[in-house]
Amino acid sequence: MKHLLSVADLDPTAIEEILDLADVFAEVGERNIPKVPALRGKSIALLFWEDSTRTRLSFETAAKRLSADTMNFSVGSSSVNKGESLRDTVETIEAMGVDCIVVRHGSSGAPWQLTAWTDASVINAGDGWHEHPTQALLDSYTIRQHRGSLKGRRIAIVGDIKHSRVARSDVLAFRALGAEVTLVGPHTLLPPSLDGWGVKVTTDLDEVLGEIDVLYLLRMQRERIGDAVVPSLREYTAHWGLTPERLDRLPADALIMHPGPMNRGVEICAEATEDPRAVIVDQVRNGVAVRSAVLFLLLGSGIDLVGGES
Ligand code: NCD
Repeated sequence: MKHLLSVADLDPTAIEEILDLADVFAEVGERNIPKVPALRGKSIALLFWEDSTRTRLSFETAAKRLSADTMNFSVGSSSVNKGESLRDTVETIEAMGVDCIVVRHGSSGAPWQLTAWTDASVINAGDGWHEHPTQALLDSYTIRQHRGSLKGRRIAIVGDIKHSRVARSDVLAFRALGAEVTLVGPHTLLPPSLDGWGVKVTTDLDEVLGEIDVLYLLRMQRERIGDAVVPSLREYTAHWGLTPERLDRLPADALIMHPGPMNRGVEICAEATEDPRAVIVDQVRNGVAVRSAVLFLLLGSGIDLVGGES
């Protein structure tokens, strides 16, 4: 595997291989010195054209755990503000010598475009509304960690499906691993066509709430409320939010997940974030192990992984 651009490029065996390797890195993360020399001498550029907190920090931490060097680029502090194009930016970084480019960009397909301009491995860290493959892998890892397997699990993904790259990648990964996925949200926040998605769809959260193994809440993208996709945030919460009442009706062994950043009081109530069924912090923690596994698979094949520096 040279690039990680889409979950669609991974068959179930490849996904399982990444998750198994993530187990090894989760163990590394618990050592006194959580570092292995596997990618020493490799250079990883983080190119973020869109805001990010956890994804960027997570990739950076993963790279450091593998002893790689990192180069950070964010739009706010770069020559992009002087009008430099994506291509010029990539060629500049390429000229400095990098082995891997982790890219987040507002345009769907940007990571594919990058592969034409560089010899480095490219990892898609979110492209527009399209995909966010490492998020889907860490979500799958988190469900597997808590429930052993995704096979036959009933997963409801709730909220702004239409604009969500997380939902697109999650559906691909969850289905590949044998889960049954239901998308829940207002008509205005569902994609116009769901042909080929292989999911069930409903606008009624209460209809499915009592029969699910995982409740996956998406961020209500406040910046899009102006488009009048829902009448008001209060209305959104009343119909599709995880409120204290719904928390009571959620099965005792269900998992509550969210990719972050959360809008407390909109799609998720504060009580739910503290509930023992919530695994949102595990998602963040597992992100480092899963991204370490991806970096190792793309850049480190043939290198001894086990020897640490401790
Ligand atoms: C998501 C993203 O940026 O796609 N966040 C993340 O990576 N954890 C989801 C979101 O912004 O709503």
